[in-house]
Amino acid sequence: MTEEQKRTLVEKALEARKFSYAPYSDFRVGAALLAKNGQVITGCNIENAAYSPTNCAERTAVFKAVSEGIREFEAIAIVGGPGEELPKEIAAPCGVCRQVLMEFCDAKELKVLLGKGDKTWQEYTLEELLPLGFSMTKTGQE
Ligand code: THU
Repeated sequence: MTEEQKRTLVEKALEARKFSYAPYSDFRVGAALLAKNGQVITGCNIENAAYSPTNCAERTAVFKAVSEGIREFEAIAIVGGPGEELPKEIAAPCGVCRQVLMEFCDAKELKVLLGKGDKTWQEYTLEELLPLGFSMTKTGQE
C-alpha cells in the first residue's frame, strides 16, 4: 500500500465517523476496511439504550463485509474521539474488535492504521495489537 492509499483509507474512516450513532457515550468512531479485492467497506459505532447491544465501528465494517461475501482484508483505518470535532488523538480498537479481526485476517499481515483528524496515522499490524492471539489455526479447524 502506498502512503497515499493509506491516507485515503484514513479519510474514509473519518467520513464513516460522521454516521456514528453515539448518544450515550458521545464517543464517535469510524472505520474503513480495505479488502484484498480493492473494495472499501466502512462502519461506525452504533449504540443502544440497553448499552450492551452497542456495536463498535470496526465490527460494523467487518460484519458488513463478511455478510456480503468479502473475507480477505489488507488494512483497516480507525478514527475515534469525543463529540463533533475531529479526533485530536488516536483511538485503539477494543479487545473484542481485535479478536473479530483475528478471525478473518492474517495477524502478521493486516495493517491497522490509527488515524487522527489531521489525517495522520500510526501504523501497527494486528499481531502487534493482539500478540499470541487465539485463532482457528490453534483449534485444529485449519
Ligand atoms: N468503540 C468503537 O466503536 N470501537 C472500539 O474499538 C472502541 C469503542 C465505541 C463503542 C462505544 O459506542 C463508544 O466507542 C464508547 O466506548
